[in-house]
Amino acid sequence: MDSSPHHQDTNNIDSSFDNYQDNKEIIVTPWEVSGEIEDRMYIKLIEKFGTQGLSQDLIEKFRKLTGEVHPLIKSQYFFSHRDLDWLLTKYENGDPFYLYTGRGPSGFIHIGHILPWLFTKYLQDKFGSKLLFQFTDDEKFLYNPRATRETISKYTAENILDIIAIGFQPNLTRIIIDTQHINYLYPIATEIAKKITFSTAKAVFGFTNTTNLGMIGFPPIQAAPCFLPSIIEKKPTPVLIPAAIDQDPYWRITRDIAVKLGFYKPAQIHSKFLPSLSRISKMSSSKPETAIFTTDEPEIVEKKVLSSFTGGQATISLQKKLGGNADICPVYAYLRYFFDNEKESLERYIRCKSGNLLCGECKSDLADNTKTFIIDFKRKREKAKDKVKDFMFDEKCLQ
Ligand code: TRP
Repeated sequence: MDSSPHHQDTNNIDSSFDNYQDNKEIIVTPWEVSGEIEDRMYIKLIEKFGTQGLSQDLIEKFRKLTGEVHPLIKSQYFFSHRDLDWLLTKYENGDPFYLYTGRGPSGFIHIGHILPWLFTKYLQDKFGSKLLFQFTDDEKFLYNPRATRETISKYTAENILDIIAIGFQPNLTRIIIDTQHINYLYPIATEIAKKITFSTAKAVFGFTNTTNLGMIGFPPIQAAPCFLPSIIEKKPTPVLIPAAIDQDPYWRITRDIAVKLGFYKPAQIHSKFLPSLSRISKMSSSKPETAIFTTDEPEIVEKKVLSSFTGGQATISLQKKLGGNADICPVYAYLRYFFDNEKESLERYIRCKSGNLLCGECKSDLADNTKTFIIDFKRKREKAKDKVKDFMFDEKCLQ
């Protein structure tokens, strides 16, 4: 296999960066992200995965079409892509694109999950795109030894409410639940599966002899929605996948076989991970005390934020003397990506670095903003209960 990232998407990925910054090890696969997350890591990921950074030219092209640069692009929360320039050129030439994204329903939704979806909604509104939203309930059942079908089904139903609460347009959005809508995916998945060897899957996903057979067979199911739009539209149809960069292995194998099957390669725009409130790794549902869930009561939200890790010094006098470290501060990151505008964020950064801002102020800003956000989101989530049926994929989508 050609190991040059620029010639082939499917590289032999060594998913652990052993020598990353001397002693810091970081692991990024679709099922595991661990290690300390720092901005430098993302530059490494672009190299390792063979994706492209978002260039100024591309951002400019985006701006021409949307009239502005979205804050999540400006702040480099979305930092990498594949074929986004191609997709936008197609759009300019009158070829609309589908959006495709998804969720592995392994627990409740925390606010780290929400950002890529808010951006996906923005793209839907700006470009009038249809969206396929996949729930990989099979993947989450197969991956976690302790997961039962019942708990995964419960989380699927709960998470669907969050997706609807994001505000996707019902006439343009369809949810696919793998175990319920498999008949629409399976014919495509078999075509995909037939073209991918076990040897490639091992190299890309890190499967071993102890990986269960379900997991080994799963990747084509997540690849299938990349091609479903072409089947719905009865012609090759461009697809853009907004997702965190840990999902990239799926798109590498999909892109490698797309043309052989008569489809376009799916384009991607990759986000960073939002750090957890303890900074050790990305926000994770398996460490509930460091994640803010959309189902948390406002008092719990406040408590979690106030006990968050920050980039501050040990004492007030040290903070005043040395300044804080906003670059590693999850509180700063949440304010920056969710609530502050560009100017506010920059001012906060400067005040922090110069020792003129204490962590208590940032924490209380974040707690206030997050509480307001969650109260509003919960209301939308409640309303979503009546709308579930409108969002489900069905036979009519193919007519
Ligand atoms: N595997 C993803 C997860 O565990 C869920 C998913 C399915 C997805 N299809 C997707 C994510 C497309 C992003 C884009 O969360």
